[in-house]
Amino acid sequence: MRKPVRKAVFPVAGLGTRFLPATKAIPKEMLPLVDKPLLQHAVEEAREAGIEEFVFVTGGGKRAIEDHFDADNELNSFLETRGNMEALAVVRETEISPGKLFYTRQQQPLGLGHAVWCARAVIGNDPFAIILPDDYVLSNKPCLKQMVEAYQEVGGNIVAVENVPREHTNRYGILKVGYDDGRLVVVEGMVEKPKPEEAPSTLSIIGRYILQPEVMDILSLRERGAGGEIQLTDSMAKLIGRQPFHGLRFEGIRHDCGGKVGFLEATIAHALTRPDMADKVREVLRKYAS
Ligand code: G1P
Repeated sequence: MRKPVRKAVFPVAGLGTRFLPATKAIPKEMLPLVDKPLLQHAVEEAREAGIEEFVFVTGGGKRAIEDHFDADNELNSFLETRGNMEALAVVRETEISPGKLFYTRQQQPLGLGHAVWCARAVIGNDPFAIILPDDYVLSNKPCLKQMVEAYQEVGGNIVAVENVPREHTNRYGILKVGYDDGRLVVVEGMVEKPKPEEAPSTLSIIGRYILQPEVMDILSLRERGAGGEIQLTDSMAKLIGRQPFHGLRFEGIRHDCGGKVGFLEATIAHALTRPDMADKVREVLRKYAS
């Protein structure tokens, strides 16, 4: 019997220097797509995939994140006395129950692998998901849910993947691909940010993972990889051959919110899915397209 995936890690310790000055006093993950912070989009995707326990790996200057996912009793009762039930419902959606949300700090910026390792005590012996909130995926079925369904079929470890232009392989973890049925690929190897001429394929890992807890033991070795950082990709690569490892070509569109134009595009794409504003936004876009 396969253990269900109930825990998810959200690495949110980054400084967000690319978005200064907006990120001077506000964590990057709190920047909103229209009216909902990136991190809340990620949490909602996790919830829809059956995640019940959330681990935020934070750093200094991230208090706004704690406040956002807490219950704000003063605000709740203010909205209630005003009879503003719509806003109340929106605010209550942000709350994560006590005992279901864990914070741990990544005290040094040693890389994504190190950030994930910081969550090891909460993960214990359970399979877990990782969501990088910078990657916003628009899809009919939430990306992580698609992965959980694939996990129920094949177990082991799964990363969400998409094709990228060869000249971009040095931005991502790239797979060496074995058997490929068009949806699921058997992973034979992976390498972090390879040069285009050295990349084993153009299939890149996006910020969605389902991993077995053994990856934590490998991360504990603290081996440095690309850019001198403790890379998650390097530790995952060591699981290959010991445990099943698949890449899932997810259905949907990934938006990279780590850069300004990508963030703007994600904002527009998200706005166009919203019945409350899509028509007006389309009108605005037409105005500026000319
Ligand atoms: C991280 C991972 C990389 C992955 C990418 C997806 O890179 O290290 O393997 O492809 O996220 O967004 P980063 O974007 O932190 O440089």
